[in-house]
Amino acid sequence: MDRYLVFGHPVRHSKSPFIHTLFARQTQQELEYGLAEPAVDEFAQALRTFFDQGGKGCNVTVPFKEQAFTLVDRLSPRAKRAGAVNTIKLTDDGVLLGDNTDGAGLVADLKSHGVTLADSRILLLGAGGAARGALAPLLAELPSELVIANRTYTKAQQLAAEFCDLGPVTAQAYEQLAGPFDLVINSTSASLQGELPPLAPALIHTDIAIYDMMYGTSDTAFISWAKQHGARQTMDGLGMLVEQAAEAFTVWRGIRPGTKQVLRELKRNLGVI
Ligand code: ATR
Repeated sequence: MDRYLVFGHPVRHSKSPFIHTLFARQTQQELEYGLAEPAVDEFAQALRTFFDQGGKGCNVTVPFKEQAFTLVDRLSPRAKRAGAVNTIKLTDDGVLLGDNTDGAGLVADLKSHGVTLADSRILLLGAGGAARGALAPLLAELPSELVIANRTYTKAQQLAAEFCDLGPVTAQAYEQLAGPFDLVINSTSASLQGELPPLAPALIHTDIAIYDMMYGTSDTAFISWAKQHGARQTMDGLGMLVEQAAEAFTVWRGIRPGTKQVLRELKRNLGVI
């Protein structure tokens, strides 16, 4: 049977095996999907061993995405732009192809929630790996403006400079942000510590869409905060998780699984519905 897995550390609580097992059942593909948690300095060896032993493809998550970028034989254009690899496929001619499906997953999830990206003003919070992966796919949707705000301002500036050939992207300091924005995407890891990015409450209005790439079994700190200040449309990153997985599955198997039912089953599994 074709073998796939996700590399991460820690990875024990990953929902990827659950998601890909449902995709495989839905599309009648024969495959198995497991977990691998190598020590941080043993990822390269573990990756090699997996493919030497017949593995067909893998996902890569924190903290290995940047390292995976350096270990593959060839990069997709979107992986090259993202500077990170979350999906690897062994091609028929024995080449390890590195791809990045995170940004496509974000855009697909935003669209499935009915969020319009064309001609919109988007505020992206954070300038780390998650922001970098999202920029090219977001700019491809032709927003009228994409502003990056980051606690460390110079990182936002660097990112804006790196992507400005793709669209109207600029950096602004948190305290200088001028609304109104149509969509705010939180790519920071602040929610992990229960913290908030230092955003002025005045930027939140009833017609704004709020997206947090993080998710949990209850509202993230950022989503709770945005709701308190009047946001009516709030979304967490669970849909993005399923959509990036669907994109990876499509890369591996050449067949696109449906995501709606799988997202519902994942929510049921997590006890959030
Ligand atoms: P990831 O790969 O998840 O993007 P990262 O590359 O470590 O992780 O980036 C984390 C991002 O969250 C950064 O933009 C970080 O801001 P700094 O560049 O100033 O460090 C942001 N971040 C983390 N905690 C934050 C907090 N409490 N408030 C605001 N931004 C925060």
